[in-house]
Amino acid sequence: MEQEKTLTKIEVRELKKAYIERRTKKRFYSQCGAHEYCPVLDGISFSIPTGCFTCFIGPSGCGKSTMFRIISGFEEPTSGSVLIDGKEVEGPSSRHVCVFQEDGLFPWFTARENIGLGLKDARSPGAQEEIEEYLELVGLSGFGDHYPHELSGGMRRRAEVARALIMNPDILFMDEPFGALDFVTRLQMREEMVNVHQMFDMTILFITHDIDEALQLGDKIIMLTDRPSKVAWDLDLDFPHPRDLSVGPLRELRREIYHRMGLHVAL
Ligand SMILES: Nc1ncnc2c1ncn2[C@@H]1O[C@H](COP(=O)(O)OP(=O)(O)OP(=O)(O)O)[C@@H](O)[C@H]1O
Ligand SMILES: [Mg+2]
Repeated sequence: MEQEKTLTKIEVRELKKAYIERRTKKRFYSQCGAHEYCPVLDGISFSIPTGCFTCFIGPSGCGKSTMFRIISGFEEPTSGSVLIDGKEVEGPSSRHVCVFQEDGLFPWFTARENIGLGLKDARSPGAQEEIEEYLELVGLSGFGDHYPHELSGGMRRRAEVARALIMNPDILFMDEPFGALDFVTRLQMREEMVNVHQMFDMTILFITHDIDEALQLGDKIIMLTDRPSKVAWDLDLDFPHPRDLSVGPLRELRREIYHRMGLHVAL
């Protein structure tokens, strides 16, 4: 198992992405034509070992979600490449599941129906039993028949996590999954993610704006610069869970991350 963990799962090489930015104001037309290129990713390279929980941090708008869409095969880079298990990514895969930044449940389906969406025969007794297990795993027992508007924000995120996990993904992409939650619920979800990662042993890519969240969850943190972004720091974290950030080397790393992000706050 340990040997398996050292294998490279994802290799990102010199990834570049530029969007065409349409200009509507006349003065721009005269300066640079009807459009110009807006560089977002400027040569991003890193590799992620199998089973690694990698957290991505970086300023808003630096291209984190764009990078996720490229790695998961939903969007093409301008140049550079992404290899998963040594093979170039050519499109989305059912083995790679995403929990996006926005609320992703279908409002006309119940929690149970949402969770079962990716299953082949979701109405079969076996599938229903499995859905019950996942409802229980994420603390939603008894809420399977609730529609999303009848669930709290935290419960909706839990249902989304269950919907992703039931697919037994090889790689789980999570784009700021807990960003909109209150502080205490976020702490609970954080603990649950550590358990999920230990139970399922999958490769997880996780975007967050919360430096503490990254330090508590990550086996690796990749910090991006402002747009057009590059890798500012690729940091391996080999600390057992649960992690206390108020003492020792983790406290120092936290300080260092704040410092590198240009944040000058007393910690
Ligand atoms: N489809 C698109 N067309 C044009 N520009 C885009 C498109 N998608 C993203 N962008 C631009 O790319 C930049 C990066 O966007 P992205 O959503 O990847 O940032 P982010 O790091 O995820 O930000 P946040 O932390 O706020 O979620 C932004 O300037 C955005 O306007
Ligand atoms: Mg984003």
